[in-house]
Amino acid sequence: MQNKQRVFSGIQPSGTSHLGSYLGALKNWVAIQEGHENYFCVVDLHALTESRDPKVLRNNIRELAAIFLAVGLDPEKSVIFRQSHVPEHTELCWLLNCIARVGELSRMTQFKDKAQKGGAEAASVGLFDYPVLQAADILLYNAHLVPVGEDQRQHLELSRTLARRFNHTFGETFVVPEPLILETGARVMALDEPTAKMSKSRPTPGGYIALLDEPDAIRRKIRRAVTDSGTDITASPDKPAITNLLGIYAALTDRTISELEEEYRGKGYGEFKKDLAEVVVEKLSPIRDRALELLDNPRELDAILEDGATRAREVARPILQSAQAKMGL
Ligand code: TYM
Repeated sequence: MQNKQRVFSGIQPSGTSHLGSYLGALKNWVAIQEGHENYFCVVDLHALTESRDPKVLRNNIRELAAIFLAVGLDPEKSVIFRQSHVPEHTELCWLLNCIARVGELSRMTQFKDKAQKGGAEAASVGLFDYPVLQAADILLYNAHLVPVGEDQRQHLELSRTLARRFNHTFGETFVVPEPLILETGARVMALDEPTAKMSKSRPTPGGYIALLDEPDAIRRKIRRAVTDSGTDITASPDKPAITNLLGIYAALTDRTISELEEEYRGKGYGEFKKDLAEVVVEKLSPIRDRALELLDNPRELDAILEDGATRAREVARPILQSAQAKMGL
């Protein structure tokens, strides 16, 4: 695995994984795993910032690990593990906490959005500190590339800032990571509200397609997806709904939006949605089947995660120790 560029990315096991995290992240992880040295992480400590039910969290962790494997991540080619199994993540987080600034974290839009719901005063310190733990995740492996969706751009920028600040203050230690954000699929919007991001925290399940949704549920959700006024199947800023559906179609079939616009010229929304539903079902059904199979054998899953944690620690430990030494510990 030497001389290959390192890749790190993670997904929170909070709620169910959906088409947004598949197109924005998982699909691209699978696409690049061959030529890189990869670390793919179930970031269960991040999920604690919003989870209050241990049983649900435990299930979500296993389900997400099963999904990692079901989409095609291969433990022979990628290190697949849980964040909480590698205590170096929280240790480095503390070191970075001591150089991160309150002002920087206060400007994080994801924190502002989430804190707004219950009031910033009542938001947990974990939620505030969330992006520093994310920076620790990435820097701990000296990752070069971080494949994520568009919504993580600001967090990635903070990781870069902290890497540079650390290197500048204490001497060259960390690689400054680059985000890898593809054009299609980087921002999948909710089916019931195309100006909001598709997310697991949406109140209505009609807004997202879960990777474990049954085929009929997928068909129903796409049939009911809101559309724009007019009848043309074209992408434009004043047609956010059809633009989103075209983006999903394009990302799933590796075609361009203009090819699809051409193909559906003169055709109606009904026909387009029916075809799109079949494209989604065809892509997600094997993932669902494989994930359910893996979930039937949790011992195998747990063994893969444990092996992943051992391999991750071998890389993480010396990098943490070097940062500690540089700081005078
Ligand atoms: P999370 O768990 O919210 O989302 C996981 C990944 O899926 C992408 N994503 C989307 N992409 C396109 N359209 C959407 N609607 C959509 N929703 C989610 C996200 O951009 C992300 O890539 N903070 C991270 C987890 C994390 C992490 C890390 C990521 C923790 N440490 C280190 C990279 C590196 C998060 O909450 O992702």
